[in-house]
Amino acid sequence: SKIRVAVLVGSLRKDSFNRHLARAVERLAPSDFSFDHLRIDNLPLYDQDFDGHYPAECQRLKDEVSAADALLFVTPEYNRSIPGVLKNAIDIASRPWGTNSFAGKPGGVIGVSVGATGTALSQQHLRNVLAYLDVPTLGQPEVFIQNKEGLFDDEGHIGNEGTQKFLQGFVDRYVAWVRRFTS
Ligand code: FNR
Repeated sequence: SKIRVAVLVGSLRKDSFNRHLARAVERLAPSDFSFDHLRIDNLPLYDQDFDGHYPAECQRLKDEVSAADALLFVTPEYNRSIPGVLKNAIDIASRPWGTNSFAGKPGGVIGVSVGATGTALSQQHLRNVLAYLDVPTLGQPEVFIQNKEGLFDDEGHIGNEGTQKFLQGFVDRYVAWVRRFTS
């Protein structure tokens, strides 16, 4: 059966560069890997009062995370950190206390931004959160991409051969890393 990767994209924007990046990376993976983009735009803001009776959408997210073999976070940088929508989703799936749905699942962290930092600071904050949530994250290669004209072509494919090769290198390492946890 397939190795299931839950993808969390930290942008709700329709033409999100990060969603394009996620799709581009997925196309570089072998056929025994499948990728599910988890919905985070319809979640309520986390409220600890939920913990006695978790809202259906929050439980749905937890179930989807639980069903995954691995995680892939593809996130923009907002004000040098991760967007609130992503942190909200992470908080929701990490609770109620004692039911952290992420625990033990191998994760990858990548991103694209318009700024020259290429989401480096956002990713560093995210790695801090994931360490606490017991998600072992692939350390290298780091994927800090700056969006430039021509990075994505009209169909959302990577338009630049050097970047394509670099991302293939990331995917190969990520796939090998995930297999260590699943086989
Ligand atoms: C940004 N952007 C941004 N870029 C960056 O490199 N470092 C940053 O700290 C920030 N901060 C930031 C804050 C907020 C509130 C917004 C809306 C944007 C720009 C960001 O890289 C750009 O909007 C990307 O296009 C966001 O990614 P998506 O939505 O295209 O995936």
